[in-house]
Amino acid sequence: MDLPRSFTIRESGHRIHNPFTSEKLALLGRALSPAPGTRLLDLACGSGEMLCTWARDHGVTGTGVDISTVFLANARARAEELGVGDRVGFVHADASGHVADEPVGLAACVGATWIGGGVAGTVELLRRSLAPGGIMLVGEPFWRREPLDRATVEGCHATDKDDFLPLPELVEEFGRLGCDVVEMVLADQDSWDRYAAAQWLATRRWLDAHPDDELAEEMRADLAAAPARHVRHQREYLGWGVFALMNR
Ligand SMILES: C[S@@+](CC[C@H](N)C(=O)[O-])C[C@H]1O[C@@H](n2cnc3c(N)ncnc32)[C@H](O)[C@@H]1O
Repeated sequence: MDLPRSFTIRESGHRIHNPFTSEKLALLGRALSPAPGTRLLDLACGSGEMLCTWARDHGVTGTGVDISTVFLANARARAEELGVGDRVGFVHADASGHVADEPVGLAACVGATWIGGGVAGTVELLRRSLAPGGIMLVGEPFWRREPLDRATVEGCHATDKDDFLPLPELVEEFGRLGCDVVEMVLADQDSWDRYAAAQWLATRRWLDAHPDDELAEEMRADLAAAPARHVRHQREYLGWGVFALMNR
């Protein structure tokens, strides 16, 4: 069980595997301002940047769960680098169905709601780990503009227009799931560029260093198509944000 290597090649330079910059991640932390000692469960934690920086900045403790051995190695190294290795831990596991041993004050799934079969299932999953009065964090794409054709839907890595909602409908959906939306920080087009465009340089450098790798042809085709796909489709049509939710 591991993330396909093409992902870890493209995102080898990323600490945050979503369209947030470190400033936006820090802004979300300041907006929530968790009390020191708050436990954070981060499902599909990637390289653990949220856990590690919030442990440093706010004194949270907690656990990240992810299937990527490469990202988890990054996370453990980052925890040591920031001096928070005694406060955070990382588990290599499928996060679908993962519930904390003890209830947590913050339960997160940022950019991987497929682990719960969608937003509703992910909210249900996070709820199972949540202490009374705790906050769930859900990172999710939404349509900034209505996609008008199939090419746009596919260019945004969706299989169907209904895979994502427009922002107002997404916020209303959280309400239907019995949640108050208590905070949110949204990506913008520039922060999308940091997520998407940084993958192009990482891919090009990897191709130059590994011309004979079995993935070289696939990664070359990916690099040839990705920039135009991003500016034509993703950058214009797809929004993304992290929504902080509390049970009503
Ligand atoms: C878009 S990235 C988001 C990572 C992290 N939350 C962040 O924002 O930096 C999606 C992550 O989901 C992880 N992932 C995918 N399927 C998973 C699963 N079934 N269980 C746990 N992690 C999973 C991937 O390895 C990857 O790290």
